[in-house]
Amino acid sequence: MKLVVKPGQHLQGTIGGNSSFRLPGDKSISHRAALFSAMAQGDSIIEHFLVSGVTIPLLEALRILGVDWKLNGTTLSVHGEGLEHWRAPQGSVYCGNSATTLRLLAGALAAAGIAAVLDGSDGLRRRPMGRIVEPLRQMGVQVEGSAENTAPLLFTARPSGRRLRPIQYILPVASAQVKSCLLLAALAADGTTQLTEPGHSRDHTERMLKSMGVAVRFPNDDPILELDSSQNNSSKYTVQITPPDPLVLSPLRLTVPGDLSSAAFLIVAGIITPGSEITIKEVGLNPGRTGLLDALRQMGASIEIDGVKERGGEPVGDIIVRGSPLKAIKVSGPLVVRMIDEFPAFAIAAAYAEGVTLVCDAEELRTKESDRISALCQELNVIGVQADDRPDGFSIQGGNLPRGGIINPHGDHRLAMSLAVAGLAAQEGVEVADAEIMDESFPGFIEILQQLGGDLEAVPETVGKER
Ligand code: S3P
Repeated sequence: MKLVVKPGQHLQGTIGGNSSFRLPGDKSISHRAALFSAMAQGDSIIEHFLVSGVTIPLLEALRILGVDWKLNGTTLSVHGEGLEHWRAPQGSVYCGNSATTLRLLAGALAAAGIAAVLDGSDGLRRRPMGRIVEPLRQMGVQVEGSAENTAPLLFTARPSGRRLRPIQYILPVASAQVKSCLLLAALAADGTTQLTEPGHSRDHTERMLKSMGVAVRFPNDDPILELDSSQNNSSKYTVQITPPDPLVLSPLRLTVPGDLSSAAFLIVAGIITPGSEITIKEVGLNPGRTGLLDALRQMGASIEIDGVKERGGEPVGDIIVRGSPLKAIKVSGPLVVRMIDEFPAFAIAAAYAEGVTLVCDAEELRTKESDRISALCQELNVIGVQADDRPDGFSIQGGNLPRGGIINPHGDHRLAMSLAVAGLAAQEGVEVADAEIMDESFPGFIEILQQLGGDLEAVPETVGKER
């Protein structure tokens, strides 16, 4: 399917609350809720679970591991009997295109100590796995990757009764997936594990494990954080975990907050279309995720946060954005990890901002669903925006209205959605090829933007896709 986006409208309205459209559940929290409740003992109920292309492979993997679950709309019920009841799968466990599924499942399998092979799509097989393989081995896990340290990953069973070694480990790159993998493996360790990251990545795992009765110590572990970003931009973050003995996790009762990474596209859409005002209700505001809001405010965007409350150990609130003129900024250092998934959306804001926006210290973007530095620059050039690829980021010359054009999303859901948003204000609009990829993380993206007044049309792609 291709998505045709035409410019000219301002966006108006509310998503969530009494509106019939609601922001989908958070991807990171949905993954964790499904996996951790499969590790727990008892019945968990997770409402507003994200049912999408990246979470279904995890649910299927859990079934193969012997865990019973039921999905009714977006309500997921999981019957957990504890890790010791997971059974070794026949054949490899397919994680689709989702690095979160693979890396978190790797940690859980390491704790379970069963033999298994984790694999995924061609795209996932290109993502770096040495970053989990190396520290897992230090803990005593027997795991092998391919020659390039990529998936498939082969886990050998651990002799029963043998615990893993607790480690003190400094992550070379701030990464919530790596941190979470190791925290899960640490549940089978014989003592306290300590992990230090060079930045504050999302701490959903810490919060959720704590709510399930695990002794986890981490900064900012107050469920309602102050939204003062300076607290979260310090350069080091340390977490300690001591597993319960015996290893029993309490089941979860949780409503998943709306996904700020999905809201990001609506936020940028509202800001770059003059005269717009959008309210997005009940969005997750985890301090490891709110970097985009800080960056956009620095650029001059009108963003208000209202009604902050705690839900399942996570801060949640309503976001109100208005069309605003923007000026270019520089993004670097610890802010980068706090907006790591938002650079595609941020790049569109930068294209509409006066001046040259510079992104540094962001080489991690090359390891995502696409090489987001190179793919973003290429596609921005296609729509008439000068964007330059730099070794650790990119620069964007903003301020001239993008012309528009036909976009290739490089198999990356976030690229597809951000470039669609660019079309809402570009001179000629945009066409996004292979637009079904958007469903990986944001089912309903098109309908929500239409509801807000955007002119978007999904058209079946019957003829050639070349531009
Ligand atoms: C995620 C962590 C981030 C992010 C991904 C989801 C998570 O990856 O890009 O979309 O749920 O832990 P890294 O930890 O590799 O930065």
